[in-house]
Amino acid sequence: MPLGWFRVERFRCLSAAELTLGSGVNLFVGPNASGKTSLLEAAFFLGRGRSFRSRSREILIQTGEVEFRLTGESAGGLSPTVLGIRAARGVTELRVGGAAARGFAEMAEHFPVQVIDPDLHKLVEEGPGRRRRFLDWGVFHVEPEFLGTWQRYHAALRQRNSALRQGLEQRALSAWDPELAAAGERLAEQREGYLRRLAGPLQRIGQALLGSEVQLVHVPGWERGRPLLEELAGGVAGDRRYRATQAGPHRGDIGVRLGNRAARGVVSRGQQKLLAASLLLAQLLVLEEERPGRSALLLDDPAAELDEASLERLMSIIRELPVQLWVTSLKPRVAGLPEPDRVFHVEQGRIVAI
Ligand SMILES: Nc1ncnc2c1ncn2[C@@H]1O[C@H](COP(=O)(O)OP(=O)(O)O)[C@@H](O)[C@H]1O
Ligand SMILES: [Mg+2]
Repeated sequence: MPLGWFRVERFRCLSAAELTLGSGVNLFVGPNASGKTSLLEAAFFLGRGRSFRSRSREILIQTGEVEFRLTGESAGGLSPTVLGIRAARGVTELRVGGAAARGFAEMAEHFPVQVIDPDLHKLVEEGPGRRRRFLDWGVFHVEPEFLGTWQRYHAALRQRNSALRQGLEQRALSAWDPELAAAGERLAEQREGYLRRLAGPLQRIGQALLGSEVQLVHVPGWERGRPLLEELAGGVAGDRRYRATQAGPHRGDIGVRLGNRAARGVVSRGQQKLLAASLLLAQLLVLEEERPGRSALLLDDPAAELDEASLERLMSIIRELPVQLWVTSLKPRVAGLPEPDRVFHVEQGRIVAI
């Protein structure tokens, strides 16, 4: 199972909480402002290195304190591994299995975690940033080569952009192009391969949740079919003007289509939520095929987000996913939710198993 136990210290309103979790459904019940979302936020941070509701890390540290700590035992791998984070102003220390970790990718590998929260619809509605992150998180977990490709690409991109900002001559600029183009094309191929794997599960889940076909179309970030090296060479004038490289997978996106038309700006807020939920669930399904029994899905007050019929359909899909669930709710009953393994009461930053 993903997390066997989890300890949160000085994170938002949670001074110190320690939980033993069940491998199936964990339900957290409590009134408003009791700390339910904060707990999910802390779990998400352990696997992702960021919050899902705030860009600032400092705001996560309990008022009056100087750091927060998160510790969890991931039991999904071959042997249980303790993951730890200590985050203070400007300092983050990561530990995996007792040793210092180099980066969040190492943590992420042990705890794939996904969230369905009130911002869910933004995956469909907003700009490409969220969709790229969604895509890359999925590829990262099923394609072992992806992290290396991503790092190679971004290292070359940083160098080329730095040359552009400094207004360096053509030779200094194009020196990066072969590496950038090779890594960029590889990155796009890996994304595309992943989207092919996602297509089947997405179709099934989309039908069940929306009664319509859901499709994802890869947008590579430069003219489809044209070698990236050529595109880079052809775009130098524009790159100089913007002082940044305009073509490549860092500008990539995925088009979300519902029943054969682009969803963005057309479908209702309710449909956006269901579409985004379909994407996330399909992603977890692919991940579970590849590395079973590792992932967790956090559902933040799902009853506030979806009508009862949609919630029941969502839950019937989730029931087939053998992921660990963390569900928050104001009430002890959530429509369609399978029988919880564990129920916790949350009140004024304290979490008690009941
Ligand atoms: N850095 C912080 N330090 C202390 N308390 C905080 C911090 N950030 C938020 N809070 C408080 O935490 C409380 C719980 O919030 P939240 O987890 O969103 O509750 P719930 O999801 O149960 O409604 C809120 O009252 C909020 O003011
Ligand atoms: Mg909340």
